[in-house]
Amino acid sequence: MTTLDSTPPAVSNTRPTAPLSDDGQLFRLLVQGVTDYAIYMLDPDGIICNWNAGGRRIKGYEESEVIGQHFSRFYTEADRIAGLPAHALEVARLHGRYEKEGWRLRKDGSHFWACEVIDPIWQHDRLIGFAKITRDMTEQHEAELRLEEARRALAQAQKIEAVGKLTLGLSHDFNNLLSVIVNSLDLIVVHRQDAARTSALVEGALRAAERGSQLTRQLLAFARGQELAPEAHDLNALLLRSRELFLRSCGSTVCFEYELGQALPEVLIDGVQFEAAILNLLVNSRDAMPQGGRIVIVTEARRMAGPLPDAPLRNHVTVKVADTGAGMSEEALQRAVEPFFTTKDVGKGSGLGLSQVHGFAAQSGGFLQLESRPGVGTSVSICLPVAGE
Ligand SMILES: Nc1ncnc2c1ncn2[C@@H]1O[C@H](COP(=O)(O)OP(=O)(O)O)[C@@H](O)[C@H]1O
Ligand SMILES: [Mg+2]
Repeated sequence: MTTLDSTPPAVSNTRPTAPLSDDGQLFRLLVQGVTDYAIYMLDPDGIICNWNAGGRRIKGYEESEVIGQHFSRFYTEADRIAGLPAHALEVARLHGRYEKEGWRLRKDGSHFWACEVIDPIWQHDRLIGFAKITRDMTEQHEAELRLEEARRALAQAQKIEAVGKLTLGLSHDFNNLLSVIVNSLDLIVVHRQDAARTSALVEGALRAAERGSQLTRQLLAFARGQELAPEAHDLNALLLRSRELFLRSCGSTVCFEYELGQALPEVLIDGVQFEAAILNLLVNSRDAMPQGGRIVIVTEARRMAGPLPDAPLRNHVTVKVADTGAGMSEEALQRAVEPFFTTKDVGKGSGLGLSQVHGFAAQSGGFLQLESRPGVGTSVSICLPVAGE
């Protein structure tokens, strides 16, 4: 708002001071001079009372064509039918301002993207009209649309590249797994009489098949953006139910144990995705311990804050998979949860394991904690908020 200084300037001014009666005229000149904005007044019913040069430039009407007309003529037919013009005035009247962007019509019928502001004008508690300012934002709007389009195209290209990488890695993975299974079956036929040999071969083939089904699970999770079907679950019960599968995934050279906390509160999670996440962690631990070692799964209730700054303390249930394996370098630790990040040979890793675990934790409202020391071991904790709090 402008205020007029009542004391005259002390310095001598060569220009004569404009008499006060010319203020209205000066103001009119100012408004008329603005060409980037359509500035005009409406009466309380929306009839146009005056019009500036910006209005002519943006909307194409001469002053004589619009004075006395209703301002709804600038709206598209759909907006008029939807009652937008009356709604805009109502909002301005009730809330002191209406501000919105949208398509409007020029005289020649073409559209432009308008940023419009409507302010009510009151005189002694009586509404005497509205001031309306419209700016033509078509170029900016189109630039934004083009930018958005470019962003989408880039994301699409990245997706295609990712899918290409994924397909390559997976075909290697599946080929390897299938050859393990086929070779084992061949050898079983040859060594049918040798019970010990046969059972070792069967175990190898089973493990390969299990890895195959785990891979398809990862793929499904990735393709669906991991659609979760959350339900209240007791983590200990889920872990105990999948114990056999977990034990077999670790292999016989690894000592596998549970340390389950007592009376844990329930968490809201998708049970199938939880099993896939634990399986991913176990396979990582097993891969990090080719000479064998120890894997322990620990569950406990903990009051803790999330990873974001200023996150409040909340009750969580954590499930930690800790191993005594090779550990990770600083760089690997930083990048471990990135999709497709793997330090394993082609066919040995898809780089999707930890990203699935991360996605599962995040979509369940929780987060991951990774700790690793080269030569000592790694632990990954999934921290899940307690249900119903
Ligand atoms: N328990 C672990 N011990 C050592 N390194 C690990 C462990 N878990 C994950 N990593 C590292 O993180 C990388 C990414 O893991 P992941 O996303 O499961 O993909 P992948 O197992 O297919 O490589 C692995 O390649 C490995 O370098
Ligand atoms: Mg993995």
